[in-house]
Amino acid sequence: MADYDYDVLVIGAGPGGYVAAIRAAQLGLKTACAEGRGTLGGTCLNVGCIPSKAMLHASEYFEAAAGGMMAKMGVMVEPRLDLDAMHSQRKDAVKGLTGGIEMLFRKNKVDWLKGYAKFTAADTVEVDGKSYRAKNIVVATGSSVTPLPGVDVDNDKGVIVDSTGALELAKVPGHMVVIGGGVIGLELGSVWRRLGAKVTCVEFLDQILPGMDGDVRKEANKIFKKQGIEFKLKTKVTKAEVKGKKAVLTLEPAAGGEAETLEADVVLVSIGRRPNTDGLALDKAGLTTNQRGQIETDHDFRTSVPGIWAIGDVVPGPMLAHKAEDEGIACAENIAGLTGIVNHDVIPSVVYTWPEIAGVGLTQEQAVEKAGGDKTAVKVGKFPMLGNSRAKTNHEPDGFVKVIADAKTDRVLGVWCIASVAGTMIAQAAQAMEFGATSEDIAYTCHAHPTHSEAIKEAAMAVTGKPIHI
Ligand code: FAD
Ligand code: NAI
Repeated sequence: MADYDYDVLVIGAGPGGYVAAIRAAQLGLKTACAEGRGTLGGTCLNVGCIPSKAMLHASEYFEAAAGGMMAKMGVMVEPRLDLDAMHSQRKDAVKGLTGGIEMLFRKNKVDWLKGYAKFTAADTVEVDGKSYRAKNIVVATGSSVTPLPGVDVDNDKGVIVDSTGALELAKVPGHMVVIGGGVIGLELGSVWRRLGAKVTCVEFLDQILPGMDGDVRKEANKIFKKQGIEFKLKTKVTKAEVKGKKAVLTLEPAAGGEAETLEADVVLVSIGRRPNTDGLALDKAGLTTNQRGQIETDHDFRTSVPGIWAIGDVVPGPMLAHKAEDEGIACAENIAGLTGIVNHDVIPSVVYTWPEIAGVGLTQEQAVEKAGGDKTAVKVGKFPMLGNSRAKTNHEPDGFVKVIADAKTDRVLGVWCIASVAGTMIAQAAQAMEFGATSEDIAYTCHAHPTHSEAIKEAAMAVTGKPIHI
């Protein structure tokens, strides 16, 4: 240790980096974390998961009041939107949580090196003009918005924005065009639709939410359409011009064809995110990236250079905060000589729309493909939320649960839910899969009544037999 400044130096304080740093310190390692942003917590706490959920939650209340749901339940109110107050509770949430990470760093004696880090050698980085040598360096620099050529984001002007700009709009746009029918487009499109915007979603593919189960994608499309979002599928945006306070978009069929124009007050570019490695001087450390710009690692999160590790959005896999966190813990444990493992086959994902959309494990399409295209190798049980007493009582009829199991062994391969609280429901499916459960195991587990989770039990019952309530 003598000539090292730190046992572990983490670059980036997002959910991957800050969690890795805290766990390393908890395990008795002298730890620092470099972060160039003014506050800790990375994309997730500053401009991602947390502020988006603050706006989603608040706009859900507004729509419940303005859209007549409260009146349906006998609560009569005359809602008025105070957007400044809504933004201010969003900022409070971010401030509270990012400040909390600073406190956790102090408590665990993690040094925050303020500034952007770059490698000067495989075991040395420079931060704000100072050099630090560390026995282990963890790259956790996260990701940022993928740009769309011809559509230049300018969050300050507020006409063509990315997710960060879309969280902060000073007024509700008359017409918002969302480019990309993925997670960000649907979540932030939902926020502004609930607050009064007309929302059009332009998606390159023939269906929204790529990567999710086919039935879920179709049903989600129907639900969002019913809520008023207009979809232009199989369509690409080739150009955007800002004219005064409006943008004029040129659209074309994805396969080519006649162009059309579309006017918008706000355009949200949400076509994906790409790993952050620019400015790290990876070459000085002998590190390279793959074709997608990611840093490859082995199962233990070691890169090709001894002593350098990588986790989170900057490595392959889903770009999710909980995946980054789990990798952070496992990576720190591996550095400490323990056995840190992440089961990448069981990473839940949730879209926080209304209703929520959640899944874990394989889609039906993936399960069939894995069985060499044999459709009979996979059994599926489905249960509609309409048959669930709690969802029905709460006026939440949309959605279903789908359990996918191996036809021979009955082992659960994937679970997909569309339900108001799907994000909470999916945890039990992940746990069941982590324990190697069969659909029968879930079907014979006693679930509290009346809960939305009973729909998972009934979908499991439907895999080999019949559910009761439909
Ligand atoms: P990041 O959180 O991106 O953090 C990396 C940090 O590294 C940044 O703070 C950056 O400033 C810093 N950094 C970069 N380069 C350097 C350098 N050279 N030196 C020092 N510091 C550096 N995921 C979910 O699971 N659930 C959600 O609900 C969810 N909502 C989202 C909503 C939005 C609008 C967005 C954009 C993302 C959302 N995500 C969500 C994704 C989630 O934010 C990311 O998967 C997660 O933050 C990745 O964590 P990370 O630690 O890998 O990187
Ligand atoms: P995404 O990958 O979820 O969706 C991008 C969409 O844009 C896809 O449907 C894609 O087909 C489409 N697209 C790509 N190029 C296009 C083009 N030129 N024209 C029209 N459509 C195009 O990416 P998104 O929504 O930007 O989110 C980035 C990542 O952030 C997500 O992958 C997710 O990992 C993370 N995230 C997670 C959240 C959550 O967990 N709830 C919330 C928000 C973001």
